[in-house]
Amino acid sequence: MKIGIYFDQEEKIFHIQSRDMSYIFDIMDNGQLGHLYWGKRINSFKKRKRPIDDHQGILTALAQEYPAYGTLDYRFPAYQVQLDNGTTITELRYHSHQIIKGKERLKGLPATYVEDEEEAETLKIRLFDQIAGLELILNYTVYSDYPVITRSALFKNIGDRNFDILQALSTSVDFPDNDYQFLQLSGAWARERNLIKRPLLPGVTAIDSKRGNSSHEQNPFIALLSENADEYHGEVYGFSLVYSGNFLAQAEVNKYHQTRVTMGINPFDFKWKLEKGEEFQTPEVVMVYSDSGLNKMSQFYHEIYRKRLVRGKFRDLERPILINNWEATYFDFNTEKLLKLAREASDLGIELFVLDDGWFGRRNDDTSSLGDWFVNKEKLPEGLKYIADEIKKLGMKFGLWFEPEMISPDSELYEKHPDWCIHVPERKRSLLRSQLVLDLSRKEVCDYIIEQVSSILENTCISYVKWDMNRQMSEIGSAELPPDRQRETAHRYILGLYRVLEEITSRFPDILFESCAGGGGRFDPGMLYYMPQTWTSDNTDAIERLKIQYGTSLVYPLSAMGAHVSAVPNHQVGRITPLKTRGDVAVFGNFGYELDVSCLSSKEKEEIKKQIQFYKSVRKLVQQGKFYRILNPFTDNNTAWMLVSDDREEALAAFYQVLAEPNPGRYSFRLKGLAPEKKYRIIETDEVYGGDELMYAGLEVEIDGFENQDFRSFVWKLESV
Ligand code: DGJ
Repeated sequence: MKIGIYFDQEEKIFHIQSRDMSYIFDIMDNGQLGHLYWGKRINSFKKRKRPIDDHQGILTALAQEYPAYGTLDYRFPAYQVQLDNGTTITELRYHSHQIIKGKERLKGLPATYVEDEEEAETLKIRLFDQIAGLELILNYTVYSDYPVITRSALFKNIGDRNFDILQALSTSVDFPDNDYQFLQLSGAWARERNLIKRPLLPGVTAIDSKRGNSSHEQNPFIALLSENADEYHGEVYGFSLVYSGNFLAQAEVNKYHQTRVTMGINPFDFKWKLEKGEEFQTPEVVMVYSDSGLNKMSQFYHEIYRKRLVRGKFRDLERPILINNWEATYFDFNTEKLLKLAREASDLGIELFVLDDGWFGRRNDDTSSLGDWFVNKEKLPEGLKYIADEIKKLGMKFGLWFEPEMISPDSELYEKHPDWCIHVPERKRSLLRSQLVLDLSRKEVCDYIIEQVSSILENTCISYVKWDMNRQMSEIGSAELPPDRQRETAHRYILGLYRVLEEITSRFPDILFESCAGGGGRFDPGMLYYMPQTWTSDNTDAIERLKIQYGTSLVYPLSAMGAHVSAVPNHQVGRITPLKTRGDVAVFGNFGYELDVSCLSSKEKEEIKKQIQFYKSVRKLVQQGKFYRILNPFTDNNTAWMLVSDDREEALAAFYQVLAEPNPGRYSFRLKGLAPEKKYRIIETDEVYGGDELMYAGLEVEIDGFENQDFRSFVWKLESV
């Protein structure tokens, strides 16, 4: 089976083919790129007469690859450039192309990669607008093992005049109809990535972030679902942006019911001056096609992000079970209290102790000291090294929390450098959580962060870093940039952040980094490139987590999701759930604890020991297996999901009942992904069933009886016999 990129010289057609997918476009007679098809793989494509080919130049209904605004196409364009005479008309025409093996790295930006040239092919198309002096290179990469296309665009000023980029999106795809649902992952702090679907109607359906980070409110991901598509049926087109800042993702339906999907850096409040000889690289979009529903799309995202986006030694390593002191102590701790917690944790079998916020400067609450990255000697007179050494003696690793991108007005750093924060002169600096955002568009600020964080990491035996970021931007402006570059600040910040992360993570390859932004406010592929895991949400309630983890799994693998067991009543919603249920939800992620284990009863400690042993026995499966969503917490009272190992020898299935129903009888649900011909032993019941029986007839859950109560959970480990 042919996989790769082909150019039909006669028809001027590009055909990007993977195992299950084709993406086809051509060079139209006028030299522009026209879009022809994206969907299930087809072997050859015969160019058809375009509906309005007779009216050369009339673009109203033509499907295009990287459209402009200003001619007769009135849809939202992929880019817009303003020339020094103030006009915005450009006409990019095909010049040449190149098909290369493998994939090039994107300068200064995170992106998927290859380890071997044979894994992928890349098409680079050069387009020119002579009048503007604009050269554009469109990059398309196709992976041979996944129905995935990545796209990005590189703008070059090859003329002798400067121009401004007003908009530079990463992708634009025209669909012939609008028979789709628009799926988005939206929410807020503590309720991130809720699954929302809405129909596509004439006009624009969009999500975006103007907050400086990818945000709790909208994740940089959308999908179009063909009519009646669900988890296991129908065509699905996924778009995921490898970027951590302001973004836009939208679908526009025109008068002919055609749909144009565009995605990239949010053009709102963005402008980038491109001087002679300069380049501007857009972030990458990872586009996935599935012919059998959302679950398959998710599995492709999981695989490519787990294997070809995440980097470093932890990519393939099993992640440690951790305890984090945040919900156990908040700011109220001292060395003795921490070590007491650590001793209990080590007795339970926990492998990593994480010291969260409050260890530095004069930080005893959230009103001060961000930026002062030296130990709080009043609180921890023995210093960090002592704590790290003591924890090491207990057989555990030590991890530390930082929030390096922030500055408290009440800090030594702010006294020295009041202009180092994002701000606009003479305007109010709005505080959120009593803090401001450091201006990472400035090199010296980035260098300061790199040195401050590095010096702590060098001098203490640290195995893990939680990199937090607890507010979004406001009054966006930089003291360093000239007036005509102020609207570059937000993107320059992200470029600065990526430089800092690249530098620190490569200086400390043996440290496991977990990203966090008030929970899941920056759970995006850009951050995953630098940090293999993310704190999924500050909401640790097991029932809320069903939705959050289910929604997150649309795009992100379980190995990327931090999931911890916390105390009851839960600190975010006050709910009391059984310890078993809290454990059964958290095992479907990077498992850990976030409670004062020293005040638990001996019965609870025994239960936790068992949870930990259990997680260790299934950890590889959880972090590297294939995930199947079965019952949806957004629509059902019950949730079910499962994991299957690649060789289908092992599986882990879970069923959660939110509210108990009176007299419910027996319930059965169908498992997924097993080998139909294999027999599986259910470890918990010691029963053996055929894979086919479990998948087609289902597994029975006994929810009736005296134990029927709210918030129950069941987990089964399956092993092939
Ligand atoms: C927000 C994080 O999500 C929490 O886990 C905790 O680290 C706090 N910040 C600390 O300020």
